[in-house]
Amino acid sequence: MEIGITEGSYENLQEITEINKICFSGTKTIEQIKEKLSLSIYENPHITIAKINGKIIGYGMGYFETGKEYYFWMLGVLPEYRKHGAGKKILEEQINFAKAKGYKKFLLKTSNKYRNMLRLTISLGFDIIGFKINEWGKDSAIWMSLNLE
Ligand SMILES: CC(C)(COP(=O)(O)OP(=O)(O)OC[C@H]1O[C@@H](n2cnc3c(N)ncnc32)[C@H](O)[C@@H]1OP(=O)(O)O)[C@@H](O)C(=O)NCCC(=O)NCCS
Repeated sequence: MEIGITEGSYENLQEITEINKICFSGTKTIEQIKEKLSLSIYENPHITIAKINGKIIGYGMGYFETGKEYYFWMLGVLPEYRKHGAGKKILEEQINFAKAKGYKKFLLKTSNKYRNMLRLTISLGFDIIGFKINEWGKDSAIWMSLNLE
């Protein structure tokens, strides 16, 4: 499978929203995604898309968090295209972008239920820097960081 990785734009948000729904059973709308990204419009919001035969099969997006930290917000690959390296390539493109912009840290939040994400981030060298046990202890938040210096 030939996976093409490129920068995405707001024009891709319709397809991204569809993938997002499938990956997270989520209800985020294009407007909500745009709103969140536009809050950071002056500080490098960045969308990455993965394509196979011209079809978008995965996406990642992030934006600045503070002057020194880049926050990676969402990653999703359609189930039928997983385990072919697309997730890793998207994340690496985002990391390279953040590095090129001079950010010192690359942060993200995940949870125990996203086992593939945990494996992927650990294999790329991320550290666990925070953990928040929720009321039921089932879906606690895990903060991860990659040093870019
Ligand atoms: C997390 C997610 C994006 C990973 O996407 P992916 O494209 O499957 O990721 P990769 O293919 O790069 O890596 C996944 C695994 O496939 C393996 N792999 C990569 N290329 C491979 C290939 N050509 N052949 C066999 N295995 C391969 C990797 O080694 C990795 O193995 P591991 O899980 O044992 O470490 C995807 O599982 C997903 O969308 N999940 C639902 C949403 C989600 O959890 N998002 C993150 C929330 S914080």
